[in-house]
Amino acid sequence: MSDCPITLDKRHLDPEVTAEKIAGTADRIRKADEVLRPPCRRYERYTGWLDPDRIRASGELAEIKQCADELRDESDALLVIGIGGSYLGARAAIEALSDEPDRVLYAGTDISAWHVERIRRQLKGKDVAINVISKSGTTTEPAIAFRLLRDLVPKADQSRMIVATTDATGGALLKLAEKAGCERFVVPHDIGGRFSVLSAVGLLPIAYAGIDIDALVSGAAECAEVCKQPENPAYQYAAARNLLYEQGKAIEILASFEPRLHYFAEWWKQLFGESEGKNGKALFPASVDFTADLHSLGQYIQEGRRILFETFLIVKGGEPSVVVPESDDDSDELNYLHDKELSWINEIAYEAVAQAHRDGGVPNLAIELDKLDVHSLGALIYFLEIACAISALMLDVNPFDQPGVEAYKKLMFKMLGKPGYT
Ligand code: PA5
Repeated sequence: MSDCPITLDKRHLDPEVTAEKIAGTADRIRKADEVLRPPCRRYERYTGWLDPDRIRASGELAEIKQCADELRDESDALLVIGIGGSYLGARAAIEALSDEPDRVLYAGTDISAWHVERIRRQLKGKDVAINVISKSGTTTEPAIAFRLLRDLVPKADQSRMIVATTDATGGALLKLAEKAGCERFVVPHDIGGRFSVLSAVGLLPIAYAGIDIDALVSGAAECAEVCKQPENPAYQYAAARNLLYEQGKAIEILASFEPRLHYFAEWWKQLFGESEGKNGKALFPASVDFTADLHSLGQYIQEGRRILFETFLIVKGGEPSVVVPESDDDSDELNYLHDKELSWINEIAYEAVAQAHRDGGVPNLAIELDKLDVHSLGALIYFLEIACAISALMLDVNPFDQPGVEAYKKLMFKMLGKPGYT
């Protein structure tokens, strides 16, 4: 694992998960790996993401960069319209890495009139670009938002400043984009929403936010090489969470001490929740932002029902230097910390929380990143995607469909009076 910026800290998993117990899953891991990769590739229709470099080889990466640069040059802000896998990956990377995350706004993630009004207020008088993203091209929330908000771009500029990312062959959005003459990118036919962050779906908004998408893809591609080894940390993570599930744990909490990773946890929840939660099975993926949530959910984690384990997402270095200053009178009684780096205090907070929760009956592990940079984040995206696929296959569920999300839609369409649903 010399080239991988990701390591696993398993100190606080013992006795529920030990090296021997992980070794005991080797056969199941091997079978899951065989199902995923050639020659078997049972889910070939869904596994284009296994090769992150494909997008560079095809020349599409360069086209995405060029389009993002042109949009950046000609606009003050980008409005991303999409939901679920069609937006969460981009937001996760942008909030984690961009120095100007506020230049990208999001709509189509809900049906809130307040949200639409706020976007209109925020973008009034600005030069706006829009990237509307939907693989099916028919998802209700982004379709409504696009209808309501597309006029933020003057009609004469729409073909230049609106980019549609959609299926290559079908769906209402494709027809609409063709009619309007908008630039288009394609959601690859063999990549589903929650695995699509490293396709045009995620990469166009990410590049607009000033992030080096070449480095992001390289990070993922290097991690893909590492994950071809039978004993890689992504597979060990999949094994550990399955062992904990089999011992009665019902909830996995992803916990981070870095607010920049808030939306990364949102993406992680979708990835694992939608991939695994089927046939009455799987861990419920939840997330917390520490240290803020130590002052709310921390009580439950320490002493509530013992059905939890935690996965910490830890950044080990690279933070800016911010030091606690000395005070003349020490009236806030903080001089014991003077000259200490904030990053060091944050690290100690993590060590204390991990130990306290372990003592309270919450086993925990850490996925550690050397630093929070574009290369490491690309690696982390791939790491979690493949860990998720392997973990779902260990559970014997199809990682790539989501039949359950249709149930509410059918009822909602019937109640709304959508033709064909009455
Ligand atoms: O991961 C998924 O498949 C979903 O979250 C979809 O991305 C989401 O429902 C949006 O679908 P679409 O891109 O078709 O609008």
